[in-house]
Amino acid sequence: MAIQGLGIDIVSVSRIEGMVETWGEDFLDRVFAGSELDYCLSKRRKYEHLAGRFAAKEAVIKATGRKLPWKSIEVLSEKDGSPSVRLSLDCQTAIRSEANLFVSITHQEDFALAVAVHEES
Ligand SMILES: CC(C)(COP(=O)(O)OP(=O)(O)OC[C@H]1O[C@@H](n2cnc3c(N)ncnc32)[C@H](O)[C@@H]1OP(=O)(O)O)[C@@H](O)C(=O)NCCC(=O)NCCS
Repeated sequence: MAIQGLGIDIVSVSRIEGMVETWGEDFLDRVFAGSELDYCLSKRRKYEHLAGRFAAKEAVIKATGRKLPWKSIEVLSEKDGSPSVRLSLDCQTAIRSEANLFVSITHQEDFALAVAVHEES
C-alpha cells in the first residue's frame, strides 16, 4: 500500500448552522447521509459534529483528487468514537476498490477541521 493523497479542510461551525437555518432539510439531505444526520442531530453540539463531517468530506475530495458528491462520502462513527469513511457504490468505480480512506476530525467552538489520507496498493 502507498499513500496516494492527503487532504485537509477547515469549516466554520456558524456557517454550517447558518446554512441549516436558511436551507433546512434541503441542505442536510443534499450533503449528509441518514446515518450522519442520526449521529450529529443526537448530539448537544450538533453543528460542531455536522461541520466536522463536512470538513471530512472536503478533505476526502482533496485526498482523492475527485469531485465526489458530498452525500456519496459517508463518515461513520465507530464504537470507540473514531471516524471512518464509506463511499457509495457509484464512487467505488471512480476510486479503485483496493483504496483505503482514513479521516481524523477535530472541532472546537467555531472551527471544525479534518484530514484525510487516500491509500492504494
Ligand atoms: C478521542 C479523543 C482524543 C477526542 O479528543 P477531543 O479533544 O475530546 O475531541 P476533538 O474535538 O478533538 O475531536 C472530536 C472528534 O474526534 C474523533 N474521535 C472520537 N473518538 C476517537 C478515537 N477514539 N480515535 C480517533 N478519533 C476519535 C471523532 O471524529 C470526534 O468528532 P465526532 O464525534 O463529530 O465524529 C479524547 O476524547 C480521548 O478519548 N482521549 C483519550 C485520552 C486518554 O484516555 N488518555 C489517557 C490514556 S491512559
